[in-house]
Amino acid sequence: MLTNRQLFQLHLGQTSPAPLMLEIEKAEGVWLFGPGGKKIIDLISGVSVSNTGHRHPKVVAAIKDQVDSYLHLMVYGEIIQSPQVKYAEKLSSLLPENLSSVYFVNSGSEAIEGALKLAKRYTGRSKIVYFANSYHGSTHAALSIQGSPVYKSAFLPLLPDTWQIPFNDSSSLNIIDDKCACVILEPVQAEAGVIYPDEGWLGEIRRRCTDSGTMLIFDEVQTGFGRTGDLFAINKFGIIPDILVLAKALGGGMPLGAFISSKEIMDTLTFNPPLGHITTFGGHPVCCAAGLASLEVIVDENLAALSRSKEKLFRQLLRHEMISEIRGEGLLLAVQLRNNGYIPWIIEHAPEYGLLLDYFLFNPGSFRIAPPLIISNDEITEACSRLKMLLDDAASKVEIK
Ligand SMILES: Cc1ncc(COP(=O)(O)O)c(C=O)c1O
Repeated sequence: MLTNRQLFQLHLGQTSPAPLMLEIEKAEGVWLFGPGGKKIIDLISGVSVSNTGHRHPKVVAAIKDQVDSYLHLMVYGEIIQSPQVKYAEKLSSLLPENLSSVYFVNSGSEAIEGALKLAKRYTGRSKIVYFANSYHGSTHAALSIQGSPVYKSAFLPLLPDTWQIPFNDSSSLNIIDDKCACVILEPVQAEAGVIYPDEGWLGEIRRRCTDSGTMLIFDEVQTGFGRTGDLFAINKFGIIPDILVLAKALGGGMPLGAFISSKEIMDTLTFNPPLGHITTFGGHPVCCAAGLASLEVIVDENLAALSRSKEKLFRQLLRHEMISEIRGEGLLLAVQLRNNGYIPWIIEHAPEYGLLLDYFLFNPGSFRIAPPLIISNDEITEACSRLKMLLDDAASKVEIK
């Protein structure tokens, strides 16, 4: 009989030639449990998804309650489903006034599709400006605005009239003009290796968008839900977009995405012609129930602000001669090494040290630390001592040419 490992490679479409291939039987809090009782500290959160940890009891209870009421009823937008309504109301109450109309979809990429379509519909324009080293997903439109040729060039041609400019470069911003439908960016670039906007730069973009009637879209798929020490990056920088894109932690561990705007802007998808965006499963009631429960935990337990003290503890404990810099705020941290050559070994061997780590797509010199926000100080202390052992062993075992 074939093992699960063999069946995984035989029957599942593979994203890369080198998957992690970990077998996990259960996950709880920050811990992943493998066969034979192997315990791994999750320092990735399924890539910024499990902000309230794995199987948070309140999230699990909300899922069970909803499963007992109903699953899928009808395509999105026809039937009043209370988990969607309650979640949209809660999100609106926490966001700036103009972000009050929530369109639920299934994933980050689909939310990006929706946001771009909405900007085109509202402005009647086609030009889209995006930034070097940005990542917005893997569908055709999302690939069109990916700020690196590596993963997109095999799929050309993509969307026309898309223009890439450097992040943090004010001299390029005159590309934002009255032909633009939108400027789309991650306020903190995640896959670029946690890159922050320079002081005042987002404000300059906001001004140019307002002056030219261009929609400003923030992709907070990774930065949302307390990940960088504020509930959203909007709160951190005080810059308000016209359209906000959310996913990942939005679903509390279930698949969910959303693009959010004002009622006036959102209404352009509803009329002349209607059905500007359609989704069968978008805003699945079980996912909305889970997401709402998770967001309530984040807000009620003040997890965004607490992640700042947890960041401090990581910075205090994670001192090692191989580390040149730790970038980021809260619990989206990029550990930059003096030499890129150690990174693949470190990530590949981390599970042997009871750690789950990951790469950044566009930064070969850093690895990611982004644990569930509920990680305790003791768990951080344990994770850092394991990390230091891992780095020591990388230094002695990896031959750098
Ligand atoms: C910033 C950002 N936007 C969009 C996406 C796409 O989300 P999904 O993988 O759910 O399609 C991702 C995924 O990593 C992301 O990091």
